[in-house]
Amino acid sequence: MFRTRRLRKSENIRRLVRETKLSIDDLIYPLFIEEGENIEKEIVSMPGIKRFSLDRISIELDEVVSLNIPAVLLFGIPSEKDDEGTETWSDQGIIQKAVRFIKKNYPKLYVITDVCFCEYTSHGHCGILHDNDVDNDATLVNIAKQSISHAKAGADMIAPSGMMDGTIAMVREALDNSGFSNLPIMAYSVKYASAFYGPFRDAADSAPSFGDRKTYQMDAANRDEAIRKATFDDEEGADILMVKPALSYLDIIRDLKNNFDRPIACYNVSGEYAMIKAAGEKGWIDEERVMMESLLSMKRAGADIIITYFAKEVAKILIRK
Ligand code: PBG
Repeated sequence: MFRTRRLRKSENIRRLVRETKLSIDDLIYPLFIEEGENIEKEIVSMPGIKRFSLDRISIELDEVVSLNIPAVLLFGIPSEKDDEGTETWSDQGIIQKAVRFIKKNYPKLYVITDVCFCEYTSHGHCGILHDNDVDNDATLVNIAKQSISHAKAGADMIAPSGMMDGTIAMVREALDNSGFSNLPIMAYSVKYASAFYGPFRDAADSAPSFGDRKTYQMDAANRDEAIRKATFDDEEGADILMVKPALSYLDIIRDLKNNFDRPIACYNVSGEYAMIKAAGEKGWIDEERVMMESLLSMKRAGADIIITYFAKEVAKILIRK
């Protein structure tokens, strides 16, 4: 008889034949930084995750560094919004201030900035509106301005998340022409128009005031299109290709892993986090085990890097082991 159970007999043999491992080295922790002072506000739909003002963020950063998490991904919540999101390329913008603060006080922590407009526009869409839709090419110009501004503040990596066509070519050229040819780009290559972003939009105050994002984010039904989009980003010079969300898109993570010779990242988004937290709070699932199994499945699917709100919890468990 073919016997597969021989190699499952004890924990030690299971350790020896284990194919996939989750490591602290894989993790990026997202941070929400709000303009203002004395802010440390828990996000209701994301238990354990808070919005901090810069004067309070050290509590969080100290913990991230002590847990040896390699990188953070920054999201800003500005005090002022306008039609174009002009705050995004201001030297005094919240992200620019945050990057300078973090690089000064935690020089080794790797700082990635999300480049988008939805948290900064009065209408909540990811760029400049024209006839009630986001104007791709006009938005590209602002994406370049924002990217250069983040680079000048000292960001270690730029992550454009708006799903405008031509973004990576535009950002690469802008960075190269401004003396940042060594700054890598993590492309939100395959970003689906997903209901799983709900809690994030509360957290970052970035829900569109009308309509949805379906003219720029991808249709959840499409798989071939994911390869097409990632091919463009790959050829335009993205250093890392990302899939977002993660859990409902494990097939896409594997497709990218098999098709591209680039590190693959996935974003374990707010709704995925909220579901596990909510069921855990009710006692309906073993929260810790479901969390670890979910993240492991992303690695098994082919992700080299996981952006996750669970990063601190996972790191604590992995240190314990
Ligand atoms: C856009 C952006 C979003 C997320 C990350 N970057 C929201 C959106 O596209 O509406 C979602 C992340 C999450 O849900 O955790 N700036």
